[in-house]
Amino acid sequence: MPYLNWINGNPSTKTYATRTLLFLKDNGTLMPLAIELSLPDPAGGKVSEVYTPAEQGVKGYSIWQLAKAYVAVNDSGYHQLISHWLNTHAVIEPFVIATNRQLSVLHPIYKLLHPHFRDTMHVNALGRQILTNAGGMIENTVFPGKYSMEMSAIAYKNWVFPEQALPADLIKRRWSFRNRGLEEIGQLQTGEDPLPDSNDPKQG
Ligand SMILES: [Fe+2]
Repeated sequence: MPYLNWINGNPSTKTYATRTLLFLKDNGTLMPLAIELSLPDPAGGKVSEVYTPAEQGVKGYSIWQLAKAYVAVNDSGYHQLISHWLNTHAVIEPFVIATNRQLSVLHPIYKLLHPHFRDTMHVNALGRQILTNAGGMIENTVFPGKYSMEMSAIAYKNWVFPEQALPADLIKRRWSFRNRGLEEIGQLQTGEDPLPDSNDPKQG
């Protein structure tokens, strides 16, 4: 929320903080039920408006489409800055460096990891030159503009190694809880239940 005033101070990018309530349908797809758009309140706190689906009329259909567009703006920015750049490209660099510095090339872990690290540092170096650099493609296309790298650095402060694998990753992202919703999550993610509950007597 503190970033919104700074981001919206840029004439070429405007956005809201968004929250979306989704309904999981029987066919496994998600349907948006409501979208909350928020801006900082000059008097403190935030100013929020909630929009619901509509199929006709300017005040209904068009505004609902705009609300969904702002959700997509946030989602695409999060995807590029956090899911893609940070969580796939950037976070792996320390592992590449540590593996090459600390492990023998004969070590089984080195042999296991080496194919996955091929080209990573090269691609990241190119990315820093033309994508994530100041004034580069990322700053010109995602909603935080010149705050893009700063926001991804803030997200990195919450990056914890043991939370990266299943099921911890699903639980942290609130896709699942240990004691409920297992079947639904399984259908959404893989078609199978990825989170067998050791506390569930039915599963032994
Ligand atoms: Fe990539």
